[in-house]
Amino acid sequence: MANLATKIASLKLDNPTILASGLMDEDAGSMKRIIDCGAGAVVTKSIGLKSRDGYPNPTVIELETGFLNAMGLPNPGIKDFEEEVKKIKQSNCVLIGSVFGSNSKEFLELGSEMQSFGADALELNMSCPHAKGYGVEIGSDSKLVKEITSCVKDSIDIPVFVKLSSNVTDIKKIAMAAEKGNADGIVAINTVKAMKIDIDIKAPILANRYGGYSGKAIKPIGVRCVFEIAESLDIPIIGVGGITTGEDALEYVMAGASAVQIGTGIYYREIDIFNKVCQEMNMWMNDNNIKKISELIGVAHK
Ligand SMILES: Cc1cc2nc3c(=O)[nH]c(=O)nc-3n(C[C@H](O)[C@H](O)[C@H](O)COP(=O)(O)O)c2cc1C
Repeated sequence: MANLATKIASLKLDNPTILASGLMDEDAGSMKRIIDCGAGAVVTKSIGLKSRDGYPNPTVIELETGFLNAMGLPNPGIKDFEEEVKKIKQSNCVLIGSVFGSNSKEFLELGSEMQSFGADALELNMSCPHAKGYGVEIGSDSKLVKEITSCVKDSIDIPVFVKLSSNVTDIKKIAMAAEKGNADGIVAINTVKAMKIDIDIKAPILANRYGGYSGKAIKPIGVRCVFEIAESLDIPIIGVGGITTGEDALEYVMAGASAVQIGTGIYYREIDIFNKVCQEMNMWMNDNNIKKISELIGVAHK
C-alpha cells in the first residue's frame, strides 16, 4: 500500500481527498457520512454573518459534463452554525470552516467564530462567481485579497486558506497577493462563471441568469490554475474542479497540489467516491512504484 498521508501547512491528513464546500456539508450528519466514506477532511458550506435564503429556483441544473449552479450562498448565519461545527468535531475529523464576507472586518469576525467553535482551519471564499458584493468581486482585486488575508492571519491561529477563482485575468498575481498576506495555502478553483439558455423560453434558465459551472468539464481549467500558481508560490495548494477519479486527483497532484477537493463528483460516483479515488490513486502508485504521495507533488514541472 502506498502512503497517501499529506500535509497542508500544519494540517495533517490521512489521505489527500477533501469534501469541497457547498455539497453535503450543511449539517454534521452529512459531513460525518462523508468522513465515514474515506474523506481525509471536510469543508463546510460557506457561512456568512447573517442567514441568507439564496436565489429563487431554479438554482441548479445538470449539463452535459457537469452542473451549473447559482445557489446565492444560502446559509444559516455563523451563530446558528456553531452546533453543527461542534457536533462534527466530536467525531474527531479534520474540519475546514469556509466563510464569505464583503470586507476584512466581516472575514475576521467569521474566522474568529469558526476558530472558537473548533474548526481546524479556515477557507476564505473569495471566488463565488455569482454572489453580488462577495466572492470573485473581492477575489479579483489583489490589494483586497492581501488586506483581508493579512487581517485574518494577524488574529487567527489556525491555518488560513484562500479559495480563488479562475475568472480573473491572472490567478498567479492573486495567489501571490494571498501569499503576501501570509495565507497558509491556496485553494483553486471555485466554479467557472457560465450560462445556459433555454431556447424554448428564449432566456437563461437559472433565475440568477449567471451561474458557476462545476464537474468534469472544468478539470483542465483547474489543473492549469494549480500549475500556474505552483510555478510562483511556496505555500501549499489544494486542487479542486472536476475530480471524479484517482487519475484526475493525480493530475492535480502532479500540477502541484498537496491535496484535492471533490464536489460534483459525488453525483456521478456517489458518496463513496472518496474511498474509490484513494483506491485508484493507490493502485496507480503501486503500479508505478511510488511509495508516498509527496513524491508526486509538482512533478509535472520538471
Ligand atoms: C451546488 C454547489 C454549491 C457550492 N457552494 C459553494 C460554497 O458555498 N462555497 C464555495 O467556496 N464553493 C462552493 N461551490 C464550489 C465547489 O466547492 C467547487 O469549488 C466547485 O464545484 C468545483 O469542484 P467540483 O467540480 O468537484 O464540484 C459549490 C459548488 C456546487 C456545485
